[in-house]
Formats: sequence, C-alpha cells, structure tokens
Amino acid sequence: MSRHPFAFSLVLAALIALAPGIALAASVFDFDREFYPFYPSLIKWNKSSAPFTPPADCGGCHEKQYREWNGSVHSLAFHDPVYQGELNKGVKSVGHEIARQCEGCHSPAGMVTGEVKGPGLKGLSPLAAAGVSCDACHSMSGVTHWQTPSHEPENGSFILTPGVESRGGPQLIKRGPYKPVEGCGGGFHDCAESGLHLQADMCASCHQVYHYDAHFPLEATYLEWKHGPYAQKAILCQDCHMVDTATFRRAADDFVKPARGEYRHYFNGANYLLHYLAAGAARKAGDKELADGLMKQYEMAVARLKSAAELELAPVYREGRLAEVRVRVKNVRAGHNLPTSLTNVRQMWLEITARDEAGKVILASGGLDAKGDLPADTRLFNSDGMGTDFHFAVDPWVVTAFSRHDTIPPRGYKEVFYGISPAGGVKEVRLEVKLRYRQADQHVAESLLAAVPKDLDLKETYGLDKVPLLPVVDMAEQQATFPAKH
Ligand code: HEC
Ligand code: HEC
Ligand code: HEC
Ligand code: HEC
Ligand code: HEC
Repeated sequence: MSRHPFAFSLVLAALIALAPGIALAASVFDFDREFYPFYPSLIKWNKSSAPFTPPADCGGCHEKQYREWNGSVHSLAFHDPVYQGELNKGVKSVGHEIARQCEGCHSPAGMVTGEVKGPGLKGLSPLAAAGVSCDACHSMSGVTHWQTPSHEPENGSFILTPGVESRGGPQLIKRGPYKPVEGCGGGFHDCAESGLHLQADMCASCHQVYHYDAHFPLEATYLEWKHGPYAQKAILCQDCHMVDTATFRRAADDFVKPARGEYRHYFNGANYLLHYLAAGAARKAGDKELADGLMKQYEMAVARLKSAAELELAPVYREGRLAEVRVRVKNVRAGHNLPTSLTNVRQMWLEITARDEAGKVILASGGLDAKGDLPADTRLFNSDGMGTDFHFAVDPWVVTAFSRHDTIPPRGYKEVFYGISPAGGVKEVRLEVKLRYRQADQHVAESLLAAVPKDLDLKETYGLDKVPLLPVVDMAEQQATFPAKH
C-alpha cells in the first residue's frame, strides 16, 4: 500500500466522504425491511388462510358494538373525503409508496391484503372500505413499539393475526378483554383473552403519526397522554373515548375508571365536521338509522369539546390604571394536549372583545371575517409545520419539524396577556372572551376537498356544491367587567 500512496489516499478520501452519509443513514432511524414488509407502514401480518371479516358480518352477532362503531370516526376513516383528498395529493407529490403508510392506519385490512391500492373508493369490498374495522383491533395480537425506527409506537406498529391454520381449515381467533366463556364466538371464531385490549398501547401505534421517512412525530397523542397525569392514574384512551359523555367527564374529573359494562364503541373525539358531512350523505342515501347515529356522534363531539377547557379572566393594573387583561386557558378534561393530533391543521383560538361602558370597542382580536379568515394577530393554540427549507408547510410528507408548537398539556394551562389602554374618561371595561375551535383553516379545507379523487363526487354524495364556511364550536365563554382605574 505504501507503494501507492496516491491511490490509497483517494480511497481514504472516498471513505471519509461517504462516512458521514452512512453514519447518518444508519444511526438514528434504522429499520429492517424484512421485519417491516409494508414499510412505510409498520403493520405486521401473520398471514394464513384465515381471512379478515367485514364489520357487518361481526354485527350479525354483535349488534350493539356494530351499531356504536358504525358512524364512529373509525368507521369513516377511509371514506373521509378530507383524507381521500390529502392521500390523492400525497400520491401525486411523492409517489405510490406513501399510500401504504396512510392506508395502514386508515384501512389496515385493506392495505395488508393489497386490495386498497391508492386513493379512490370505486370497486372496493365492504372490508376495505370499512376503515378501522373490528378486525383492526380484535385481530391485534401484539405490538412492536420498541423495534420501530423511532423506538416509539409509530405508523401502525402492531401485529394482525385474524386466525390460524387448523386441521379443519382456517380458524378465526378474536381477542378481547374477557376470559373466554363457554361457546365464545358462536362457532364463528375462537376467543382469546388479551391484556393488550386493556391498555393504551393498542391505540398507540395509530395515534402516533410519524413522517413516512424522517420519522418526525406529526401527531403525538399517545406520548402526550403517557407523559401526563392521566397515565399515572391509569385513565386510558378507552376510559374517555369508549364511553358516553357523562362517563368520560367522571373519568376525567375524578380519575374514576368506568365499570366494564359502561364501555361503548363510539370512539368519539372532536371531529364534529366529519360526522356532520357523513350524516348528510347517509340521509341522501336514504339510511335514516345511520344518519341518526351520526348526528348523535356529532352532538357528542360538540359536547366533548365544550367539556375540555375553562377560561379565567383577570385584570392587570399599572400605576392605578388598567394596562392588560390576562386570559388563562385551562385544559381541564383532555387526557393529552389540547388540541392534540393534527395540531398543525386543527385551529383553537381566543376571540376577545373589550368595550367601555358606552359600548365602544376598545380592543378586538380573533374575530373571523366574512370569508372565514382569522386576523394575523389572533392568539392560536396549535402548531405550524415546516419543511426542511424552514418554510411553512401543511402536508404530512413535507412537514419534518414544527416552527411553533403551542398546545396546552393535560391539566395544565397557558396565559395570554392583552395590552389595553382605555381613554381617560372611561370608567369600566367589559370583556367577552371565547375559546373557539374548527377542524382547519378555511383555505386548507378547501384545498383538500378540491383534491378528492375523481370517483368521489362531493355533490352527489354529500350534496356539496362548494365548501361552505367551516362551522365553529365555542368550547368555552367567559365575561367580566373591570374598573378602568384601581
Ligand atoms: C379501535 C379498536 C376497536 C375497534 C375498531 C373495535 N373494537 Fe371491540 N373492543 C375494543 C376494546 C379496547 C374493547 C374492550 C373494552 C373494555 O375495556 O371493556 C372491546 C370490546 C369488544 C367486545 C367485548 C364486549 C364489550 O363490548 O366490551 C366485543 C364483543 C367487541 N369489542 C366487538 C367489536 C365489534 C363487533 C367491532 C366492529 C363492529 C369492534 N369491536 C370494533 C376495541 C375495538
Ligand atoms: C399512524 C397512523 C396514521 C398514519 C400513518 C396516517 N394517518 Fe391520517 N390520521 C390518523 C389519525 C389517528 C387521525 C385523526 C387525528 C385527529 O382527529 O385529530 C388522522 C387524520 C387524518 C386526516 C384528517 C381527517 C379529517 O377529517 O379531518 C387526514 C386528512 C389524514 N389523516 C390524512 C393522512 C394521509 C394522507 C396519510 C399518509 C400520508 C396519513 N393520514 C397517515 C392516523 C394516521
Ligand atoms: C356467529 C356469531 C358471531 C359472530 C359472527 C362473531 N362473534 Fe364474536 N362472539 C360471539 C359470541 C357468542 C361471543 C361470546 C360472548 C358474547 O356473547 O358476547 C363472542 C365474543 C366476542 C368477543 C369477546 C371475546 C373476549 O373473550 O373478550 C370479541 C372481541 C368478539 N366476539 C369479536 C368479534 C369480531 C371482531 C367478529 C367479526 C370478525 C365477531 N366477533 C363475529 C359470536 C359471534
Ligand atoms: C381524560 C380523558 C381523555 C383521555 C384519557 C384521552 N382523551 Fe382524547 N380527548 C379527550 C377530550 C376532552 C377531547 C376533545 C378535546 C381535544 O380535541 O383535545 C379529546 C380528543 C381526542 C382526539 C381528537 C383530536 C382533534 O382535535 O381532532 C383524538 C384523536 C383523541 N382524543 C385520542 C386519544 C387517545 C389515542 C388517547 C390515549 C392515548 C386519548 N385520546 C386519551 C379526552 C381524553
Ligand atoms: C388501525 C389504526 C387505529 C387504531 C388501532 C386506533 N385508531 Fe383511533 N383513529 C384512527 C384513524 C385513522 C382515525 C382518524 C380517521 C379520520 O379522521 O379520517 C382515528 C380517529 C379516532 C378518534 C376520533 C378523533 C376525532 O377527531 O374525532 C378517536 C377518539 C380515536 N380514534 C380513539 C381511539 C382509541 C381510544 C383507540 C384504542 C382503543 C384507537 N383510536 C385505536 C386509527 C386507529
């Protein structure tokens, strides 16, 4: 080698040049494609001839669970037009690979069987169209949370085992919270008792959404919960989201676990808009029972949002004059940050109006204009996504960091101070404050719905000619009057 110092140093230079690249690629988010054959979805499937079952078939024997689930956001996860619009954009921007990541969570059985091959609803079996179906949860036989690229639950890191081969052919096995009773499964399936179903880990793999390649946590509901006070008292996702509104409020207020008989398959969260749109579609299709169920879910989501937060107002005086008002926003009943999940899309903000005793407005912030736009100085609680170039971005294949992340931790609060300077003669200041919520910025919603695949006709299915102004829910309201001098 010493005879070819030049060649050697070239090789060395090449190795050094390559080394940082290799080190970066292999160091933090390493993964094994054989272990995760559906990558970028991290679902594993114990494949056998035992098939997945469409929810309506399970509903033949489990009518109550089926009725509760049908109309939940889980049942809508694949049909969801906002999802279909975003998926369509994603496939056009980064190619087909990314669809597996999305579908792994939005239609797990459809993805692993290869039936769902991208955006669109045409020609799909009821199983594939069923979104987060019964089998997504009741065929879940384990999780691989610690083997993932991030070593955290992410992108569907669970194992599906709908059944096994047996001498008589395929044998279905469904897993649930109970020790199997005699005759469990009615001859249709075997039963297995599963501790996983009594843990938040079973929700974790889908409620930690990571960038498909950079593994940046776009949605981190599970970890927000795990790192907060509800996890410490073993109040799980199920204890707030698989029960009715009164039971959820009890679990949240007093850390009381629901009794086994109180669990329901509502999976009710905050997405009143999706329930509302789907109810319109069901009514149009002539399915009154489904439409009623969806409107019940709509009302539950609004009630849940109205339970989540409280406002407190206080004056700040300087040299005897009112100088600021302090608005404290408390997360009183969300088991995770408020808002959670798609924090760079959801909008939660303060609207404040201050008037003097004659009714003259002396301060206003956060009022929507006629086009559905918020003024630039609005105090929002959510996040802003950014891509690798530090530019603002919304799409989940672009966002690899947050330039701002401002949500409220469970049982925590944030304070906003508004400067105010009432004119000399003013005696008192009357404040009206609202905490408001909507699913998205008006323009973001319009762009996603404009991108739905061709076989989804928004007019025909939902009766939508154009995207209406998104409805807003007032989560909390508070009024107070403070003397201008003190
Ligand atoms: C997102 C996950 C998930 C989905 C989807 C789901 N389940 Fe469940 N299911 C659970 C969990 C968790 C429990 C345990 C609740 C508890 O703690 O008692 C459960 C309990 C059950 C039970 C036991 C009795 C009861 O109601 O507690 C049956 C039966 C059942 N599910 C059937 C179904 C059927 C049928 C469907 C589809 C129509 C379905 N499940 C969809 C998670 C799910
Ligand atoms: C790890 C599971 C997971 C993956 C992977 C995933 N999602 Fe989701 N997605 C969710 C969950 C959970 C929600 C609900 C969050 C909420 O309600 O705030 C959601 C919500 C959405 C919504 C909002 C729907 C609405 O009605 O407001 C869109 C749009 C969406 N996802 C698109 C995508 C696309 C496109 C991809 C792939 C690039 C993707 N998702 C990948 C779990 C996932
Ligand atoms: C032929 C009727 C029949 C069908 C179809 C059926 N089940 Fe069951 N299942 C039963 C019976 C009976 C039990 C015993 C407990 C009960 O009566 O709820 C049971 C129990 C369960 C349990 C509770 C298991 C436990 O020990 O905690 C789950 C979960 C479950 N079924 C899920 C499903 C799912 C998911 C499907 C569709 C893939 C399905 N079942 C289809 C009859 C059926
Ligand atoms: C103490 C009760 C409580 C617990 C525990 C809880 N949640 Fe929630 N969750 C809420 C409330 C209240 C809301 C409505 C306010 C909001 O959007 O955060 C909500 C909203 C949500 C949303 C909708 C977010 C949006 O704005 O679209 C999702 C998704 C969700 N929760 C999932 C989970 C998961 C997954 C877990 C477990 C890791 C969990 N929750 C634990 C109370 C709870
Ligand atoms: C296979 C993936 C998967 C699993 C497992 C799963 N979820 Fe979900 N969940 C989703 C997706 C995807 C959505 C959003 C669908 C959409 O908005 O289009 C969702 C939505 C929700 C919502 C409604 C959010 C809203 O904005 O209203 C709640 C609540 C929820 N899930 C709770 C749970 C709980 C509790 C568990 C565990 C018992 C669980 N999920 C397990 C994929 C999953």
